[in-house]
Amino acid sequence: MASASLLKSSFLPKRSEWVAARPSAAQPMAVSFTVRAGSYSDELVKTAKSVASPGRGILAMDESNATCGKRLASIGLENTEANRQAYRTLLVAAPGLGQYISGAILFEETLYQSTTDGKKIVDVLVEQNIMPGIKVDKGLVPLVGSNNESWCQGLDGLASRCAAYYQQGARFAKWRTVVSIPNGPSALAVKEAAWGLARYAAIAQDNGLVPIVEPEILLDGEHGIERTFEVSQNVWAEVFFYLAENNVMFEGILLKPSMVTPGAECKEKATPEQVAEYTLKLLHRRIPPAVPGIMFLSGGQSEVEATQNLNAMNQSPNPWHVSFSYARALQNTCLKTWGGRQENVKAAQDALLTRAKANSLAQLGKYTGEGESAEAKEGMFVKGYSY
Ligand code: 13P
Repeated sequence: MASASLLKSSFLPKRSEWVAARPSAAQPMAVSFTVRAGSYSDELVKTAKSVASPGRGILAMDESNATCGKRLASIGLENTEANRQAYRTLLVAAPGLGQYISGAILFEETLYQSTTDGKKIVDVLVEQNIMPGIKVDKGLVPLVGSNNESWCQGLDGLASRCAAYYQQGARFAKWRTVVSIPNGPSALAVKEAAWGLARYAAIAQDNGLVPIVEPEILLDGEHGIERTFEVSQNVWAEVFFYLAENNVMFEGILLKPSMVTPGAECKEKATPEQVAEYTLKLLHRRIPPAVPGIMFLSGGQSEVEATQNLNAMNQSPNPWHVSFSYARALQNTCLKTWGGRQENVKAAQDALLTRAKANSLAQLGKYTGEGESAEAKEGMFVKGYSY
């Protein structure tokens, strides 16, 4: 029999509550859970389910202005608000995008931005049946006392920012922190990452936003797939420990994990079947079925690789919706095709729709890989990449 001393005291009800809740002999035992999503709980469950709907996934377009600047520089454009607006208009206005995309993660500037023809970007998304989301973390800084690792800022003032974002139309949020395998990861870095994600998730839910929980395990390193698997198990155990301790309602969250792959500089490559096998084993061991959706990041994989790996994971039914929340693996060909020229907008939107459709098919386990361009097969890993 499990001894009470083996259980974390924080998971147990206070004695006074337990005594008060004991049924009399005539009453059936009422089961109650201590989860606290407050007045928004029904809405959170609905939002999470709608983002995690069959054949759809998330377009991550929440690059900070600095990162967006790097993307624009790659096609020879200056990092001006007008150029960022033109690019983001192109993305959200792609005709029929909502057939494949259920949510779009925006950077704060975009949540308050209009399209080039004066419509609110949020309204364009809603018309497309795409739920607007918002990046709420404030980015990574060095974690003093660690092995050159980082931690994610943004908890100060988060409740009031989330409330304002909800008013502006956002219905889900994202917080991205990272874990580096070559630098350890140290127990300190993993604990800090997990605790920050859990505090953020509780605050987001309290203000009506479904939190996307994203501890990105970076692709950097020469390690093999086994090592990634081991670190991922450790990270997700800590994340769920603290999510539970912070009374986060699992039915109202979404996860954004890295797939379990070898390090980018590992000599041995993995097939989509191997990536799927390791990743699904990880998810089964660590993720409760109450969680509605697993929305993977692409992390520097090529567009085609990210689609193939997702497709391999959907060859048999899963307890959660297993889908995508890609930035680079949805936008890369689209951005290059646009090149900043008005006459290329339609072709660029078609490129985005091609990727969105391929990933939609992969979510359903029906992607065949037919007609993929050489461009889409090119890897996008950048060593030490930062957002
Ligand atoms: P990538 O798909 O480019 O890794 O980006 C996803 C993302 O939003 C990381 O936070």
